[in-house]
Amino acid sequence: LGAGIDWQLSGPRTLGKTLTSQARLPEPFTLPGTVPAVLAPYRSDQTADYHQVTQRRATATILPGYRTDIWGYNGQFPGPTLAARHGRTAVVTHRNELDVPTVVHVHGGHTPADSDGYPTDYLLPVAGTTAMLARDPQAVIARGQRDHTYPNDQLAATLWYHDHRMDFTGSSVWQGLAGFHLITDEPEQALPLPRGDRDLPLMLCDRAFDARGRLAYPAQDPTFLHTPGVTGDYMQGVQGDVILVNGVPWPRYDVAAARHRLRWLNASNARVYRLRLDTPHRQAPGFVQIGSDGGLLDKPQHLDAIDMAPSERFDTVVDLTGYRPGEQVTIVNDLGDGTTVPVLRLRVTHTVDDTSAVPDRLVDLERLDPAHAVRTREMNFRMGKMTAMDGSTQDKGWLINGKPFDPQRADATARLGDLEIWRITSDFNHPVHVHLNQFQVLSRNGRDPRPTDRGWKDTINLDAGQAAEIAVRFTDYTGRFLLHCHNLEHEDMAMMANLTTTL
Ligand code: C2O
Ligand code: CU
Ligand code: CU
Repeated sequence: LGAGIDWQLSGPRTLGKTLTSQARLPEPFTLPGTVPAVLAPYRSDQTADYHQVTQRRATATILPGYRTDIWGYNGQFPGPTLAARHGRTAVVTHRNELDVPTVVHVHGGHTPADSDGYPTDYLLPVAGTTAMLARDPQAVIARGQRDHTYPNDQLAATLWYHDHRMDFTGSSVWQGLAGFHLITDEPEQALPLPRGDRDLPLMLCDRAFDARGRLAYPAQDPTFLHTPGVTGDYMQGVQGDVILVNGVPWPRYDVAAARHRLRWLNASNARVYRLRLDTPHRQAPGFVQIGSDGGLLDKPQHLDAIDMAPSERFDTVVDLTGYRPGEQVTIVNDLGDGTTVPVLRLRVTHTVDDTSAVPDRLVDLERLDPAHAVRTREMNFRMGKMTAMDGSTQDKGWLINGKPFDPQRADATARLGDLEIWRITSDFNHPVHVHLNQFQVLSRNGRDPRPTDRGWKDTINLDAGQAAEIAVRFTDYTGRFLLHCHNLEHEDMAMMANLTTTL
């Protein structure tokens, strides 16, 4: 642990304090599980699909008996799923009807810089923009809406989109600004994997609710000034006591006795999960992992448990063939201290003919060969004294290479096409995320990567005192991108750095 850190780590899955909800909470597994609706394009042409998304306030029934104010893409939490095909461009016009600036980012996307959602590329609210335009109709400002162009020129993958506003990503996402962005391609379509209603994207996030059922969050954002009593030291990140799956607390999915593809996304601000399967069968099938952050694995692997840090995705298949109606499987979060808490339940209601399969070979995966690397960079994620952008100094700040984020400073400048090795070190639990391209994990503490590090990754979770080496090659797009900690409170406390790509 680095100097100046004065808390005890009891393990990554119990890090931080958990906000305790004041509202009446439902019994686990009583609410039906859902899957976010797929966004329909309002227009399509030969090469592109055009979508419109409005970011706005809405109310949702998350806890039975309460109406909860949320911020939603199209007023929904989770937002609608963008389902894209490899090589077909999606143009998404985002319109901001909230009363704060926003900026949307597709996490894991290979996106040109002007569409990537840099934290200060603000999309101003429609209302504010109208007022500003009234003062100067020639003003060059985003007029409440902006087009983001996503080439989707990457492998089939489970990506997601979320708000990335400078200093406020944690509170914006907590209020609901997150959704799936799925890409499929021909190699994936050729596989006999479970599909249709047996292909379930599952967004996990934890939240806390005040006595009136409102989302509680301890930030300074004016939106949350209505949450009295929620204060404290959240240097470790904000956690809630209610686990939502696609926005539903501890849901129950009624399913067929068949293989199911469960695409896990940890959209929590700071919570790390260890997912386990609790099954009635002694020969517990566990999870079969078929994909990671950036796409399918070359071959499936069996995992008894899945460790999943904020923003990571694990694409898995769970085999319920042979289950009898009435039997059920519970997915729990193992807290690492001998206790587990519920996440969701799959209840088998009927039998079917299942022709799906998980082949031994999935796709061909390119290996990045570190022998071809042209440079090695050090990326040190740790706490230290810091001087903020306004010149003030603080004793504790989350820093990368000793510095808090400054949009004006070049931190890492990479040439397109160059293979680089990054050596990342960490004083705490930091899920380290890199924009623009997926990477591969070469080692952890000089030893082999973990099984859960396999495949293309855009986030690697480092525990306190760990070091990892990754291989990364940036391609196609020049400009200003980011690397950062994806503990959203750390990110908002300036644990970000610029990644600039050049020809
Ligand atoms: Cu999921 Cu820079 O973000
Ligand atoms: Cu990202
Ligand atoms: Cu962090």
